[in-house]
Amino acid sequence: MRNSAASAVDSGKPLKRGRVRMAAQIRLMREDDLQTILLVERAAYQFPWTPGVFRDCLRVGYCCWVIVIGGEVVGHGIMSAAAGEAHILHLCIAPNVQGMGLGRSLLMHLLRVAREHQAYEIFLEVRPSNHIASALYANAGFAAVGFRKDYYPGHGGREDAIVMSLSILK
Ligand SMILES: CC(C)(COP(=O)(O)OP(=O)(O)OC[C@H]1O[C@@H](n2cnc3c(N)ncnc32)[C@H](O)[C@@H]1OP(=O)(O)O)[C@@H](O)C(=O)NCCC(=O)NCCS
Repeated sequence: MRNSAASAVDSGKPLKRGRVRMAAQIRLMREDDLQTILLVERAAYQFPWTPGVFRDCLRVGYCCWVIVIGGEVVGHGIMSAAAGEAHILHLCIAPNVQGMGLGRSLLMHLLRVAREHQAYEIFLEVRPSNHIASALYANAGFAAVGFRKDYYPGHGGREDAIVMSLSILK
């Protein structure tokens, strides 16, 4: 695929689900990915993370991964893992390649990485209004275990978070 990252975000051209997933590779995030990650982030999120937050995640050694098609970053996932627990902090796929299995691939990769870190439980937060992400996590076996009040910024006030967890023993 010859699309640049910007065109992966903006082109709006129809892409074939199977081909996209087969062409995708997952690798560690690098500092020089940040420009593209921010394009994807701003296209996908109403309240995007800032460059400083991504830099901090890299600096403190969180598990920071990107999903790449044809050498171009089209998504990113960030997780902390320590003391037997992992926490998925971020998962994002460029809008014009959403719904093609890339989010699921990246999530499954993070679960494998969590196992490598000997995590036995993995946690994440999701907005109650984010039905697509909630379905992705529920299909992967996550279950709601609590909520955090006023966790997320919102346009009409703050939004609570649902806390989900998955036991990944074995
Ligand atoms: C949530 C997100 C990561 C999912 O990634 P994706 O590549 O679009 O999702 P996938 O194609 O891998 O689909 C995984 C599952 O999500 C759900 N899903 C995906 N697209 C959907 C849609 N349009 N409607 C309903 N459910 C959908 C389905 O359960 C799907 O499972 P299936 O393949 O068995 O049908 C992605 O949409 C995204 O980046 N959204 C914006 C940022 C965000 O909300 N991140 C999560 C924060 S908690």
